[in-house]
Amino acid sequence: MTEVKPSSLVLGAMMFGTAVDEATSFALLDRFVERGGVWLDTADCYAFWASDTGHGGDSERVLGRWLAARPGIRSKVRIATKLGAEPLEPGSWPDRREGLSPAAVRTAFAGSLDRLGVDRVDLLWLHQEDRSVPIEETVDALDGLAADRFGISNHPAWLVERGRAHARSVGARPFDALQLNATYLRPRPGTLPPGVAHRFGVLSDEQADYAAEHGMDVWAYTPLLSGAYDNPRKDIPEAYDHPGNASRLAVLDEVAKEADAARGQVVLAWLLSRGIRPMLGGSKLVQLDAAFDGVALELSADQLRRLDEVDRSDWAAPYAQR
Ligand SMILES: NC(=O)c1ccc[n+]([C@@H]2O[C@H](COP(=O)([O-])OP(=O)(O)OC[C@H]3O[C@@H](n4cnc5c(N)ncnc54)[C@H](OP(=O)(O)O)[C@@H]3O)[C@@H](O)[C@H]2O)c1
Repeated sequence: MTEVKPSSLVLGAMMFGTAVDEATSFALLDRFVERGGVWLDTADCYAFWASDTGHGGDSERVLGRWLAARPGIRSKVRIATKLGAEPLEPGSWPDRREGLSPAAVRTAFAGSLDRLGVDRVDLLWLHQEDRSVPIEETVDALDGLAADRFGISNHPAWLVERGRAHARSVGARPFDALQLNATYLRPRPGTLPPGVAHRFGVLSDEQADYAAEHGMDVWAYTPLLSGAYDNPRKDIPEAYDHPGNASRLAVLDEVAKEADAARGQVVLAWLLSRGIRPMLGGSKLVQLDAAFDGVALELSADQLRRLDEVDRSDWAAPYAQR
């Protein structure tokens, strides 16, 4: 089983500076570091849909002010940001967005560094695909940017492979991480769960297999279904309504009861057991604490087997995690 460490949990800063006010964002960030968290995830476009301006940038700005207010903290955290999805004008997403042309990549990245107040990021993600630009051109544009690693989100496996093959052929760093929606429940084929706005946004067998085969890191967004596993005021989204998930929920309930844990905590522990790094978008300290307790849960081999084997177990073969 993958070694479980608090540093495996990623703090998603998507709503920092909009739905989550600055004081709460700072408190969450402080607690995250206190509890051993390392990776922070944001994007240049967060969170345009919740901002009065219709543009992103609030999340990165809050992170930048927090880094500035906490001298020395930069060396304790790793910062991941994304580009490509910022709307060109308020209301223009998804039709008119910055995209992944070389010029857009360079401009977006400069904006992110400026808002974050850093000279380098630890991981830079392509946020969503842009079929108007050959991925080779985007990969060439990434080379030389001040980022230690590159990752790719919401792209089909074939395009990831094409980008990685090109990077290898020109001696550039290939994408080494995938960011996709993943949780314990599976959406019904042909549906996308709420919060997933991308055709290839839900971790598929093929993407998981590709990542496993190439030793890529996998980060899971919206792993807690925005709280629906445990918040009685939130329904499990309709996209998850099918008989396979009825069985999965029954096993999840069983294991949660045995482990004296919440369902979401078991989901986080299960994702980690599969080598998938969960990203938490909590808005409250108590949620962050619950998530750290979740990743520390020690599920037995039998509990993991029951969770894995409820319908099929092939896709869930654990893969290497950095
Ligand atoms: N690459 C992409 O396209 C993409 C897309 C989406 C997200 N992301 C990244 O992934 C991160 C996480 O995504 P997310 O916010 O959708 O994930 P999530 O963790 O599934 O949802 C976060 C929400 O879950 C609720 N919650 C958390 N812990 C809870 C608990 N213990 N009990 C009950 N409710 C709980 C909270 O809702 P309340 O605030 O209502 O209490 C919280 O705001 C984002 O911040 C972002 O960095 C990336």
